[in-house]
Amino acid sequence: QSDVAGDLANILLTEEEISAKLDELAAKIDADYAGQDLLLVGVLKGAVMAMADLARRLHHPVQMDWMAVSSYGSGTKSSGVVRILKDLDADLTGRNVLIVEDIIDSGLTLSWLVANLRSRGPASVEIATMLRKPDAAKVEVDVRYVGFDIPNEFVVGYGLDYAEKYRNLPFVGTLAPHVYS
Ligand code: PRP
Ligand code: MN
Ligand code: MG
Repeated sequence: QSDVAGDLANILLTEEEISAKLDELAAKIDADYAGQDLLLVGVLKGAVMAMADLARRLHHPVQMDWMAVSSYGSGTKSSGVVRILKDLDADLTGRNVLIVEDIIDSGLTLSWLVANLRSRGPASVEIATMLRKPDAAKVEVDVRYVGFDIPNEFVVGYGLDYAEKYRNLPFVGTLAPHVYS
């Protein structure tokens, strides 16, 4: 097996750009939630990198919990039908919840998730996402913290996968055509 870097066509966001953006987002979150309870909810598996890197930049004493959902079924397009594969351990009653995601693509996963978490009686539910594709939106999702708006291209790295690969790349890029064939 050759180095995964050979599978990339173009680097969209470097490790340094991602790091600088995380510093910015963490400072905003610290300021916005000062003196308040905060529970970070990471969405497995894509959000693992964003969650780990964001959480360790916060000075705020947060708790971290995880959900796993499946939205794609057997196809490759998001259907809006979301299934909970792993639910939260935490009770959300009266909590300030901040969902941490790697990317908002169609918005279907998050719009479902926000509604689901809001039904559990939290004090608030907000979203922090590293990436967003405005041109791919099928539903509008109200996002409080966005890292980068990116073009409607298939990207991998920094948690994002293609067939479960490339999540561990520390940067975000597009795949070379030969990977798909
Ligand atoms: C990806 C991504 C987001 C979601 C965004 O997750 O991590 O969670 O899709 O797509 P949407 O806005 O069109 O709903 P995926 O379902 O591939 O699972 P994964 O995080 O385990 O890769
Ligand atoms: Mn995901
Ligand atoms: Mg995926």
